[in-house]
Amino acid sequence: MSAFHGTARATDARSGEAFDLVVLGGGSGGYACALRAAQLGFTVGLVEQDKVGGTCLHRGCIPTKAMLHAAEVADSVRNGSQFGIHAAIDKIDLAGVVSYADGVVERIYKGLTGLVSSRSITVVHGAGRLIGGDGRPYVAVDDEVYQAPNLVLATGSYPRTLLGLDLDGVKILSSEHALRLDRLPRSAIVLGGGVVGVEFASAWRSFGVDVTVLEALPRLVSGEDPSISAALERAFSKRKITVITSAAMAAGRITDSGVRLKLADGQVLEAEIMLVAVGRGPQTSGLGYQDVGVDLEDGYVSVSERLETSVAGVYALGDLVRGPQLAHRGFAQGIFVAEEIAYRSGALKESPTPIADVDVPRVTYCDPEIASVGLTEDEARTRFGDVETTSYDLAGNGKSQILKTRGFVKLVRRPSGPVVGVHMIGARVSELVGEAQLITNWDAFPEDVAGLVHSHPTQSEALGEAHLALAGKPLHAHG
Ligand code: NAI
Repeated sequence: MSAFHGTARATDARSGEAFDLVVLGGGSGGYACALRAAQLGFTVGLVEQDKVGGTCLHRGCIPTKAMLHAAEVADSVRNGSQFGIHAAIDKIDLAGVVSYADGVVERIYKGLTGLVSSRSITVVHGAGRLIGGDGRPYVAVDDEVYQAPNLVLATGSYPRTLLGLDLDGVKILSSEHALRLDRLPRSAIVLGGGVVGVEFASAWRSFGVDVTVLEALPRLVSGEDPSISAALERAFSKRKITVITSAAMAAGRITDSGVRLKLADGQVLEAEIMLVAVGRGPQTSGLGYQDVGVDLEDGYVSVSERLETSVAGVYALGDLVRGPQLAHRGFAQGIFVAEEIAYRSGALKESPTPIADVDVPRVTYCDPEIASVGLTEDEARTRFGDVETTSYDLAGNGKSQILKTRGFVKLVRRPSGPVVGVHMIGARVSELVGEAQLITNWDAFPEDVAGLVHSHPTQSEALGEAHLALAGKPLHAHG
């Protein structure tokens, strides 16, 4: 039964099938929207040209994190003697790592397809595009036309490259190629020291590859607080990962033995392979978006705060919309759009709250891990004028000592106000971001968190200690 009350469904003689909602793209954002919409009683068509689950499940988050876990296993074996466990690495079988990652992806994919079919979502396999310029666009897939009073654009993003660098998939790779490598190179250049770049650099180094990271800006992971970038650069240097920042590439070419790069300062770098990780662009071209009146800006779909495009009833979400390109932002936006449509149609009483990008937590799974939420110190200063900060060193945290990890938790608060940013680096800090996001999303004051008891010995105590310090009563801190 359709949940659509009061809104007539579009009709068209060419129509294949009519739904309450058609979602174009079955990645994290698209399938989350489809699942929530179906839960709300809508009939849903989900158009996907490849596999439901998209980049995150098949070529992004899940396989890279599996590879990074294998890298952690390699480091644990290599460093075992520090803990009294003597072991040696016999061989790193990259094909074996890929097959382990494929197994993880396959199990999640099976679960997801089961879930999608259990909610009676119609998956349309094929490449969809928008047609019809009369203010009521349709989705066309081959010769079929699918119509609905509401359309959701969720076609995601693609790895960018630089002019003059062809991704041949053998010597010059995108992250998608890099995930399918079945043999480790001796050396690799990673072009771009953002999230993708530092995650691959970290994993490859753990596997024994000689890695050089080139970053055009003055620091790695430039979206993070500068203190985090500095700590990561120190940790990478200890791990013998070469980092060249403020590096401008003048020319690059494929040679018989690999890749040769010339930097603007005359330096020449050579390696067997090069990963190009210079960002991801929104997948908006050739899909008919502008033809039906959907406005784009720099390739991204322009949307209102409620994710509606310039065409009424057409929404966009995920990597198509400027902001952090993160799967969990896509999930949250997908749920939001389904609920927004339900609210507007009268099927839901409460108006859903839009997702604020600043509230979205960020995790980078390199070694050491980085996790953050909210504003950096500089962003907070720009917004509030003055701020208070504190850093709690993981050296004072028992569990971190047990793990032999280094790092810190840095807090940023409005003067005498709530905590607006939490920035962490160190082994396993990804798992602390859940508490950190509750703190910033709920506008908690340091005094609120200081009153909460943290389990001992856990790394979460470092968050507790940092809040104790900011509340003016540090416990395990000198001075
Ligand atoms: P990014 O935007 O994070 O980093 C790209 C980096 O390349 C930037 O630091 C940029 O300054 C640098 N760059 C650009 N042109 C360059 C040049 N010519 N020479 C040297 N450096 C150059 O993009 P990235 O790392 O490709 O990731 C794409 C998206 O995927 C990001 O938005 C990221 O958040 C997301 N992602 C998230 C992950 C996670 O949540 N753990 C994992 C991987 C990706």
